[in-house]
Amino acid sequence: MPLKAPPDQDIVIVGATGDLAQRKLIPALYNLHRQKLLPEKGQIIGAAPFEWDDQRFRDLAESAVKEFSRTPLQKTIFASFAERLHFVPLPADGDLSPLGSASTLDRRIAYLAVPPSAFTSLIEGIKTAGLVEGTSIIIEKPFGHDLKSAEELNRTLHDVVPEQRIFRIDHYMGKETVQNLLVFRFGNSLFERVWNREAIARVEITVAESIGVDGRGKLYEEIGAIRDIVQNHMFQVLSLVAMDPPLSFDAEAIRNEKVKVLESIQPIHPHDVVRGQYTEGTVDGEKVVGYRQEADVSPTSTTETYAALRLHLESWRWSGVPFLLRTGKRLPTRDTRVVITFHDVPLHLFKTAGVHTLHRNRLVVRIQPDEGIALSFVAKQPGPEVTAQAVDMNFNYGDSFKTSPPEAYERLLHDALEGDHTLFIREDEVEHGWAAVEPVIEAPPPITFYPAGRWGPEDAARIASPSHWDESVGSV
Ligand code: BG6
Repeated sequence: MPLKAPPDQDIVIVGATGDLAQRKLIPALYNLHRQKLLPEKGQIIGAAPFEWDDQRFRDLAESAVKEFSRTPLQKTIFASFAERLHFVPLPADGDLSPLGSASTLDRRIAYLAVPPSAFTSLIEGIKTAGLVEGTSIIIEKPFGHDLKSAEELNRTLHDVVPEQRIFRIDHYMGKETVQNLLVFRFGNSLFERVWNREAIARVEITVAESIGVDGRGKLYEEIGAIRDIVQNHMFQVLSLVAMDPPLSFDAEAIRNEKVKVLESIQPIHPHDVVRGQYTEGTVDGEKVVGYRQEADVSPTSTTETYAALRLHLESWRWSGVPFLLRTGKRLPTRDTRVVITFHDVPLHLFKTAGVHTLHRNRLVVRIQPDEGIALSFVAKQPGPEVTAQAVDMNFNYGDSFKTSPPEAYERLLHDALEGDHTLFIREDEVEHGWAAVEPVIEAPPPITFYPAGRWGPEDAARIASPSHWDESVGSV
């Protein structure tokens, strides 16, 4: 169905002068405006504790669009976009009542683009300012830092607005390639029938980044890779890879199945977890410092910048299939992918012909970059002898669709304005995700080190044992 303009409403960005607003939200809203996918009537109200006026906010928006938009700024389009932009200075005590007089429509959506420590007071502030009626709330991960704090945050939210008016963003759900997991699995009759323990030997999910902590040392010190990536982005991918077919494409039907996957994660054994931290090294030909030397990081820090985990799902479909998850910063390259490895053939017929190993079938879903899917199978190499070689059937987004996908935030903001929850994280998803990593967070195994530019600590190889990680992404 083609997207349409959502119902009339104001969009309030609390924290409008911050990084998230400039890099992601304002450029995404500009692109939605350009495609006529913002409400016909409705202002974009930026709010922050600064004495700014509308013009200053419009100037900030202009430079944000110039620098970060996926499409270049077009003067006439930006001029009409800028007419929507208004700024409301907030008092330092966090009182949100000035927003009441600024928002003139009955319906508004408030994006809390602020550090997580400010969530609770702002959510309560919406109530105190008498803005509950007609307000929906968007918040970004992290949703708490453990199970208890996530439950508290959910209680605070529910005290102000019902779940139907809460949109928890995990930007991985806005990625085309992540959404395609559902279409690929349930739109093709070929794959779903082999999508289980009978046919699949293991599932690997990798989120590799070549960047370091990117100036976020202070924040990262308190988070680490398990909280930053595993509990949210990787669990979202995991739940789409492992879920059962939903009853329909309806938001609740899909989220019900995703939750069951998270609920089925068996308690993680410490032996099945490796936590690593990068030391100095070379990435992309450039020398980089170790994590402990990054700004605002303790020289004795034990925060993990790498994590590898082996999970098991207690379900009929997946019993006995290992799910191997790994993520890290300062790895050799940026690469997010899911690799499904199928079982060996039951009988190796070509041994007598001198073929000693047969590659297993593999399905590689490249989430980013180089978005696409490859299926590898064994073929006879031309020639008089019997030689079996692995070859790939490859689908590439760019080649097939000849278009660049919209930014994750465009899709997510549009869906939130429409009130469509499909791509947003439900309260129980958050809580089951935290419950699954709780044992590792409470008793983290010791840190092992890896030089920047390598595929994590050597110790991580044992997580994938007896085989190794998909060799095309690199093994340690
Ligand atoms: C964020 C994490 O949620 O996702 C960052 O906090 C990480 O540490 C980023 O770099 C990765 O996002 P993407 O879209 O580049 O894979």
